[in-house]
Amino acid sequence: MTSASVTATAATVPASARIADRVKIKQSSVRTRMLDIASKLTDVIALGRGDPDLDTPAHIVEAGREALSKGATHYTHPLGMPQLREAIAKSIAADGGGAYTADEIVVTAGAQESMFVAMLALVNPGDEVIIPAPGYNSYHQAVELADGRIVTVPTYEKDGFALTAEGVAKVLTPNSRILCLINPSNPTGMVIPPSEIEKLCDLAIKHDLIVISDEIYAKLTYDNARVQRVAALPGMRERTITIDGFSKAYSMTGWRVGYFAAPKAFTTPMAEIHHGLAICAPAVSQHAALAALTGPQDCVEQARRLYDERRKVMCAALDAMGLSYARPNGAFYVYANVSPTGLTASDFCIRLLEEAKVMMFPGSLFGDHCDDYVRISLLQPLPKVQEAITRMEKVVKALVAARRG
Ligand SMILES: Cc1ncc(COP(=O)(O)O)c(C=O)c1O
Repeated sequence: MTSASVTATAATVPASARIADRVKIKQSSVRTRMLDIASKLTDVIALGRGDPDLDTPAHIVEAGREALSKGATHYTHPLGMPQLREAIAKSIAADGGGAYTADEIVVTAGAQESMFVAMLALVNPGDEVIIPAPGYNSYHQAVELADGRIVTVPTYEKDGFALTAEGVAKVLTPNSRILCLINPSNPTGMVIPPSEIEKLCDLAIKHDLIVISDEIYAKLTYDNARVQRVAALPGMRERTITIDGFSKAYSMTGWRVGYFAAPKAFTTPMAEIHHGLAICAPAVSQHAALAALTGPQDCVEQARRLYDERRKVMCAALDAMGLSYARPNGAFYVYANVSPTGLTASDFCIRLLEEAKVMMFPGSLFGDHCDDYVRISLLQPLPKVQEAITRMEKVVKALVAARRG
């Protein structure tokens, strides 16, 4: 919701209006303030969003167009078109995620819907859901909506922001029910080392946890990092829900198509919720997703290379500015420590926007335990990234100099 629509809602809703307790309005956050400021500026370089600047590859768009012209304007099977689910099963197996049948896969309106479906189907009031901090903020909202308890596990720059089994072990209680792994991570861009994933899975088995493994960035890795697919590890298939989608690797955010894969004991109740929420994912988008999986894959490699180039440029610039970070080896974000500027990350983001017209978000929006980090997304063409760096350098230099006196 934009700040403008928040204001409009506040003005038109009568004083007697009631909203449910489960709605936690967080619109007064720094994000709203930043969007307000940005709406009055021109020439803002947005390094805040998680939406690839690249267009969906032409052959995928064409498949959508063709499907529409052939009448793909109806509901599909609620679990998703069988041929798409077959293709997803094949692609999971090819990526080392293990063997699934088509009826163990449910196509949803983005990975986002999968996340909410999972929480609504699996969490009872008071169940504890373990989420890395920082971590993709929608997991918090999904747990809240299901009346679950969010339990965060802080991750640290010194460990490359990887979630560790040691950290998770510290927060376990008899009410622990689900462990969420977001690998590679949004917002830190870190890939959890495969050896640590094995330890986390051992812990999940020992404490009978369900694992939700969000692998939506798994095709976007750098420096030879390898994403260990959780469901493929011994003893994990029966307790794992893998969430994935097309938005990031195939630049398909606007099509709203993703999926989850899990044993039928999970997919059957989850599919009920999915049907209630969405009936099915958009038919046209399912055809496009099928083309994404079955067509040429060089578009993914091209995108990955572009993000890698931007990542290297941004990391070198942060080095030059004296701002530390853990070198990201996945996704398309850099998570940088701006504390040398003397400002909190929230204040830094506002200052950067007002003075340099560069937008990035503080880690506090991703449930971070401190307000020292900013998430820089690399989703602008390289010249824009470079221009943003030039603008940011000026602000950082001035702040650091003022601090030194
Ligand atoms: C970790 C993670 N999971 C899921 C999503 C949602 O993706 P989709 O567009 O498929 O709903 C995002 C979007 O930013 C994300 O970062």
